[in-house]
Amino acid sequence: MKKSADILILHASELVTLDGYSDKPAVKSDMRNLGIIRDGAVAIENGRIIDVGKSSSLAEKYSAETVINADKKIVLPGFIDAHTHLLFLGSREEELTYKLEGMSYLEILQRGGGILKTVRETRSASIQELVKAGIERLDNMLVHGVTTVEGKSGYGLDVENEIKMLEAYKILNEKHVVDVIPTLLAAHAIPPEYKDNPDEYVDLIIDEIIPKVAERKLARFNDVFVEKGVFTIEHGRRILLRGKEYGLVPKIHADEINYLGGAELAGEVGAISADHLARASDKGLKILADKGVIGVLLPTAPMVLMDYSYPNARKMINMGVPIAIASDFNPNCWVENIQVPMFMATYFLKMTPAEVITAVTINAAHAIGLSHEVGSISVGKKADIVILDVPSHYWINYKFGTNLVDTVIKNGKIVVEKGKLKNREIRS
Ligand code: NIG
Ligand code: FE
Repeated sequence: MKKSADILILHASELVTLDGYSDKPAVKSDMRNLGIIRDGAVAIENGRIIDVGKSSSLAEKYSAETVINADKKIVLPGFIDAHTHLLFLGSREEELTYKLEGMSYLEILQRGGGILKTVRETRSASIQELVKAGIERLDNMLVHGVTTVEGKSGYGLDVENEIKMLEAYKILNEKHVVDVIPTLLAAHAIPPEYKDNPDEYVDLIIDEIIPKVAERKLARFNDVFVEKGVFTIEHGRRILLRGKEYGLVPKIHADEINYLGGAELAGEVGAISADHLARASDKGLKILADKGVIGVLLPTAPMVLMDYSYPNARKMINMGVPIAIASDFNPNCWVENIQVPMFMATYFLKMTPAEVITAVTINAAHAIGLSHEVGSISVGKKADIVILDVPSHYWINYKFGTNLVDTVIKNGKIVVEKGKLKNREIRS
């Protein structure tokens, strides 16, 4: 008697499992070690992966209502976007011209544009408007293969509006099939009210915002933009340690535009990830490697900043820093297709297709503390799976600019078929 399954995927030319890295992220040459099964198969039931192996063996064991023939295609864990600023209202298209005329990102911010413009527009938005914008963005991310997204606050910059943003994330998570993991980023910019006394805003974050957000369980992580003219290392230390007292796991925007020692701080406070790292020091990188802090690299960021200083991924991988790649989706970097940062990671960070796959699956899962739930095709994990219409994983980033996604399975349900969203399955 055959066992029953909801979905059986058969005949994947390559089944990329990435199994074996759930306890510890993949580092060094293991980032190329994808655990590939040729002519691979996956059995799914009740939203979970129940078996993984060769097609011949699973076809004998299971009968399923839905059988997907993945012949000439590759099957991978759903992509995880571990760093986004998903929710905001408004847009900043005019800044593209300012940047082309030579104004820097930090100058635009100092003049009240940049993040501060988005703060004005987001403060006047309702929760419903934020959720609606989020749904559209998640739809676009999902159709490109993303099944889990980390999303930051940071465009409220006061008690009421930071909480409003995080509440919008909570509703969005209930409404949309993509999982959204919320991060408090109250320390994203100095709000205009505190322009002349930033320390007082840091006190507000520490005394009010963090306790309130933690009490309402609105965020899992606590992030700080440590940067020249924004938050200092000492601000970052105070905010991240305070969050830890309240159970919020530290993350940090580290050494993005200027070197301030963000990577070192990530190690010191026990951050789960240090993000950007374009200017990180060797000492800082060594600390990340020793402590297993995930380096979340965002290859779109130096491009949209137009400073073109890409992080040295090759050096980081050689040193043993576990690397993830993410989109940094935000109003200065409106990219809903994770395959863009993926191909940039190959052409600008010199990462192989295999390393990039690891960086948007299991290592990205580690960056958001979900490595036991998602990020690999392993028995017991969530059935979050993407099928790409290419014959081998070597085609990832080799063929670029069109969506490679054929099918997406989220929580054991087909939500994208032949590259198109199946709307009824996505929203509740
Ligand atoms: O990760 N660097 C700070 N935050 C974002 C940009 C946010 C914005 O410009 O609105 C980043 O690049
Ligand atoms: Fe960011």
